[in-house]
Amino acid sequence: MSWPLSSQPLLILAPMDGYTDRAFRTLVKWIEPRTVAFTEFLSAATVAAQPKLAAEWFATTDAEQPVVVQLYGKDPQDFLRAALLAEQYGCAGVDLNMGCPAKKVVAHQHGSALLKNIDLACAIVATLKKHLRVPVTVKTRLGWEDASHLIPFVQRLQDQGLDAITIHGRTYAQKFQGEADWRPIYALKDALNIPVFGNGDVMDGGSALQKLGNLNGVMVGRAATQDPWIMREIGAALWQETSPLPPTLDETAEGWLRFARAAIGDRPEGPACQRMRKFLIQWVRRFGLDHLRAQATAVNSMADLQALFADARHSVVVV
Ligand SMILES: Cc1cc2nc3c(=O)[nH]c(=O)nc-3n(C[C@H](O)[C@H](O)[C@H](O)COP(=O)(O)O)c2cc1C
Repeated sequence: MSWPLSSQPLLILAPMDGYTDRAFRTLVKWIEPRTVAFTEFLSAATVAAQPKLAAEWFATTDAEQPVVVQLYGKDPQDFLRAALLAEQYGCAGVDLNMGCPAKKVVAHQHGSALLKNIDLACAIVATLKKHLRVPVTVKTRLGWEDASHLIPFVQRLQDQGLDAITIHGRTYAQKFQGEADWRPIYALKDALNIPVFGNGDVMDGGSALQKLGNLNGVMVGRAATQDPWIMREIGAALWQETSPLPPTLDETAEGWLRFARAAIGDRPEGPACQRMRKFLIQWVRRFGLDHLRAQATAVNSMADLQALFADARHSVVVV
């Protein structure tokens, strides 16, 4: 596989602000190494203004690759400066956010607002394509209020040299409401020459396979945050491999310890471990260990984490 080209359907971890940082990407890649991982979105203007922080934002380990850096903004030169830094640090591709519906993002003419400013969207893609060696992709939605402009919009981006597109099957107006509609995404694929990836409501292996249709892969967001091990099941379904057994308590504990080590790095343990609490609440529920919920929500250090896992093992053995 050479992002975004592949003879097999691709499995992509969606960009998710507050989730898909280095630690989460490391965990998902440990679970299913064939995943293509996107970063959380980063402001092109912020990166362009503070290039000295580039290492912190963009340095990746080999195990995380291929990593696609997602940027948002509106100024082609900011995008270019930020993208060149990302490229310098070894990202596999740069993705442009043209789908975020958050009020504060759209108010600045970023994210979904670019759906309504096709000339600017094209200028950003063209600028990056002129100077970057890595592939340039876009993630967007079906449209502002409906999907009637989707094909002409993406065709124009393709004319600028765009390398691939991911579509979240909801409109800007829908935000996260209703079900994702993949039908316009299949029609888009028929009208384009570049890879098209679908996104929205892939929950497990069955729904991934049912939604894949004529597309080049699926991107998974919320389901991976609820249970990162679902990526292995989804991969197996996409690649027609035997469905994996559900992970054991020990395996998931090892995964979360790896996550913790990656999250801590050379930073203080407290904040990194506190960030894990939202995942640990799901983890105790998954193994029917609700009596450990209070302990999971109080994790503050590696020692607390190890104690939680030891108590969980003990509970399972006693039961
Ligand atoms: C907490 C959260 C943060 C998100 N952050 C981003 C982001 O940074 N960039 C982006 O393009 N989409 C972002 N999204 C949207 C997801 O990438 C994805 O399009 C959406 O969740 C639908 O896919 P799903 O049904 O698999 O979750 C975010 C979604 C969530 C729930």
